[in-house]
Amino acid sequence: MSLSLIGKNVGESVTLKLNETFAILKAKGEPVIHLGGGEPKSKAPLDAITALAAHLNTGEVRYAPADGSPDMKRAVIRYTRDNYGRSVEPENIIVSSGAKQAIMVALQAILDPQDEVIFPAPYWVSYPDMVRLCGAIPVPVKPEDGSFTPRIQDIVQNVTSYTKAIIINSPNNPSGAVYPPEFISEIVQFAEKKGIYLIMDDIYQKLVFGGAVVANPFDYATDFSENSKLIIVNGVSKAYAMTGFRIGWAVANKALIKAMSNIQGHQTSGPSILLQKAAIGAINGIQSVVSSLNTTLENNKRVLVRQLNAFDGVHLIEPQGTFYAFADFSAYEKSSKKLSAYLLEKVRVLTVPGIEFGMEGYLRISFCGGIKDINTGIERIKWAIDPNSPNELYIGERKLVRDWA
Ligand SMILES: Cc1ncc(COP(=O)(O)O)c(C=O)c1O
Repeated sequence: MSLSLIGKNVGESVTLKLNETFAILKAKGEPVIHLGGGEPKSKAPLDAITALAAHLNTGEVRYAPADGSPDMKRAVIRYTRDNYGRSVEPENIIVSSGAKQAIMVALQAILDPQDEVIFPAPYWVSYPDMVRLCGAIPVPVKPEDGSFTPRIQDIVQNVTSYTKAIIINSPNNPSGAVYPPEFISEIVQFAEKKGIYLIMDDIYQKLVFGGAVVANPFDYATDFSENSKLIIVNGVSKAYAMTGFRIGWAVANKALIKAMSNIQGHQTSGPSILLQKAAIGAINGIQSVVSSLNTTLENNKRVLVRQLNAFDGVHLIEPQGTFYAFADFSAYEKSSKKLSAYLLEKVRVLTVPGIEFGMEGYLRISFCGGIKDINTGIERIKWAIDPNSPNELYIGERKLVRDWA
């Protein structure tokens, strides 16, 4: 078959593929546990549902402006004022089908073939392919000190004359690290000085634990003109448990937003008006839904961290936000793909291989599900890889007998 270079080279989203595997196994009645998920289990806020239903009931569900409906933009203006202390105008905003599309159209609007985009590892699985979709080159940067927290020199060392953008994601998927304000301050100032676009992927901004503070990039910016190359991305998927609504946005300079809107207009004509209404309902509605999700996640995290710390040979840096833990299993198995496939085959537990996030030997384990799944999932993992565990394990009615070393 004849495919384009992009068609040939862009890989499937690993995390979406895992969701599919989970659904297939579940439908077959397999006792599979999903510790690889990327979405909270709570229901969408009632305010989102009622706002969507009210619009649906009018029976008039039409095209909306490609860059977002005026009332959705007002909600984003309010969100930006409340959460970043910045007043922006409607022309500084694009509403997209998820934070993912907001990042994608930003990259399409700024990248030429051969341009380079730097992001710290571990990184969200989609960044490399999104950059490649633009014909550009992803440049992942591993913190040299072995931590999950990048240092400015790690980034600076990788900047070349081709560097067009830097993507920063804090709280970070997959590590749960919240980057320190000193780093955010340095990267904002560095990008400003060099004239490099800085994309802040803040999708987990509200999901933090134990008083962790997510630094506000605007606190360190000095260029607030329409030449600013700071791009803030956010959305309702994670904090409001609205992944399926597919609403995210970007805030940036007006010329860039216009270019992004032109691109998006030819791709999807913009996100559905119904789903924008739901997002408005969530943003303007009762915010206790977010704090109660945080409480649940923090509790889940405590259970998972306790379980993993009791696991000889597993090394974990405790997550400060998101709903992921990125644990080092290399003492058991160096290849994260092998280990993840083995855990799925032997004990029906889904995890995501660290190599997909740019770090070998790790597994990403999600704590966005229920406590029971976390406890049972880790118990099964332990049984599968710890040579000292008993010979038998029951999964429901099914007895598993260890037939491997
Ligand atoms: C770091 C990061 N950015 C962006 C997204 C995309 O979010 P959305 O569902 O709004 O497209 C995700 C989703 O998993 C993510 O983990």
